[in-house]
Amino acid sequence: MRTAKSSAASRRPAVILILLGAALVFSVLIVSIQSSLFTGSRRSVADSEEIRVLSDFQSRVQQCVARRGLGLTADIIDHCKLVLKFPEGTNSTWYNAQFKIFEPLEYKYDVCEAILLWEQYRNMTTVLTREYLDVRPDGWLDYAAKRIAQLGADKCYNRSLCEEHLNLILPAKPPFHPRQFKTCAVVGNSGDLLKTEFGQEIDEHDAVFRDNEAPVNEKYAKHVGLKRDFRLVVRGAARNMVAILNGSSEEVLIIKSVTHKDFNAMIKELPNPVYLFQGIVLRRGAKGTGMKSVELALSMCDIVDIYGFTVDPGYTEWTRYFSTPRKGHNPLQGRAYYQLLECLGVIRIHSPMRANRNQEWSDVPSKKFIRSAHAAALRLKRQQAGQEGNLGPFVNCKVWGTVDQDGPVSGSPDMGDTRKKSNYNKWELLRLESLRKEAQVHYAQMGGVSLYKMDGNKLDDLVCVKHTFRSES
Ligand SMILES: *[C@@H]1O[C@H](CO)[C@@H](O)[C@H](O)[C@H]1NC(C)=O
Ligand SMILES: *[C@@H]1O[C@H](CO)[C@@H](O)[C@H](O)[C@H]1NC(C)=O
Ligand SMILES: *[C@@H]1O[C@H](CO)[C@@H](O)[C@H](O)[C@H]1NC(C)=O
Ligand SMILES: *[C@@H]1O[C@H](CO)[C@@H](O)[C@H](O)[C@H]1NC(C)=O
Repeated sequence: MRTAKSSAASRRPAVILILLGAALVFSVLIVSIQSSLFTGSRRSVADSEEIRVLSDFQSRVQQCVARRGLGLTADIIDHCKLVLKFPEGTNSTWYNAQFKIFEPLEYKYDVCEAILLWEQYRNMTTVLTREYLDVRPDGWLDYAAKRIAQLGADKCYNRSLCEEHLNLILPAKPPFHPRQFKTCAVVGNSGDLLKTEFGQEIDEHDAVFRDNEAPVNEKYAKHVGLKRDFRLVVRGAARNMVAILNGSSEEVLIIKSVTHKDFNAMIKELPNPVYLFQGIVLRRGAKGTGMKSVELALSMCDIVDIYGFTVDPGYTEWTRYFSTPRKGHNPLQGRAYYQLLECLGVIRIHSPMRANRNQEWSDVPSKKFIRSAHAAALRLKRQQAGQEGNLGPFVNCKVWGTVDQDGPVSGSPDMGDTRKKSNYNKWELLRLESLRKEAQVHYAQMGGVSLYKMDGNKLDDLVCVKHTFRSES
């Protein structure tokens, strides 16, 4: 009896708390409903036009997936969101050890966000430069330190030490420009490349991007081509730079993650241009070096064709064209995401899975349609964030800087003769006037401003650097 009473007594405050809590939740609910009613009516007129454009665009994307998606279908959720579904009966045998689940057979995407992000890449600089470190707040102290492995400190307290590490691969300004090339091929390493003979077609592109240790030689020539222009490498592969770049002294090496004392020693003896990738860490969408190669290519090419990125849904392992299969990240998610990107006009997928190759791209929404969807997505996003007005290419510039002279080219005094005498800095010395017309027009339209991402995964935070020096160097 005693115990029962005391427990009832101790329960009473809890009941009161619950009631209070419920009342609080209820009033918050009322307030938020009221405020959404207010702002809702004010916005709805302005928003409805954007929503109409985006809904039309969604239907177009849905059609494109139906026609080009090899069985994938798109279910529209609203004007921004859709779900890509693999055909019923697809065998999901891919076990994701990290999340301890079998791969799901459907993926939800936000098309508005995707189109904002990927159209942005077309205007972006994706190579790390000195001007970026100078302009970005704490660029040298914090950010530079993150790009150097085994620095011995978490920040660049000693700036000259960090400069010593980076000088070798740090150009003063962007060595590459948006729209520099018309057509680019990005070649993944999938084993499906051996089922086709895309070699010649790949080589016909203005620039070819490959990744990691992908071999390029007579043995694989008919499958992957022989042209070598850019290679994006992760830290593990960077160790074998000398062997990878043997016989290809003009190939530009872009290190994806961090530089390192040992890499620097190697680079000092190499004739190749070598730079660091400057890009965000994408946590959504497909992962891996392949995605970064697409970002890199998109930052300098009008048309990006991808080869060797597909796997059959039934695979339980990644195959590689040059080695035995190995476990990797999940292929179904990549397959779906790349399909979305194709239907957003970002890339073109080439794959043996397309038995009758459709080299006709009328299923993909037109440039004009994409531009209007992009503009609508941007306006909607700004309105929802309560930021009206100004919608130019600089809306996302969080930090501005100005550079009024050409800085030093990359390099260090202790480079070997091979590097000193090589053409490694030819891209840095390239004059604006010798670029393709479209690149020059873009530069002029942007008023000589280069856009860079801050690190992290934010669409919105850009570092913007205005060049006011005379373009002829
Ligand atoms: C799915 O794949 C697994 C592993 O390869 C296999 O054991 C199973 O029979 C397959 N199921 C179907 C329905 O094909
Ligand atoms: C900073 O680094 C430079 C280059 O390695 C070195 O010469 C100098 O002694 C360092 N300064 C300090 C205060 O440690
Ligand atoms: C580079 O390739 C040539 C033949 O193509 C070979 O003889 C040489 O050993 C290679 N060098 C390195 C460092 O791999
Ligand atoms: C990209 O650059 C073009 C100029 O070439 C500009 O008109 C457009 O607004 C820019 N778009 C973005 C998303 O920055």
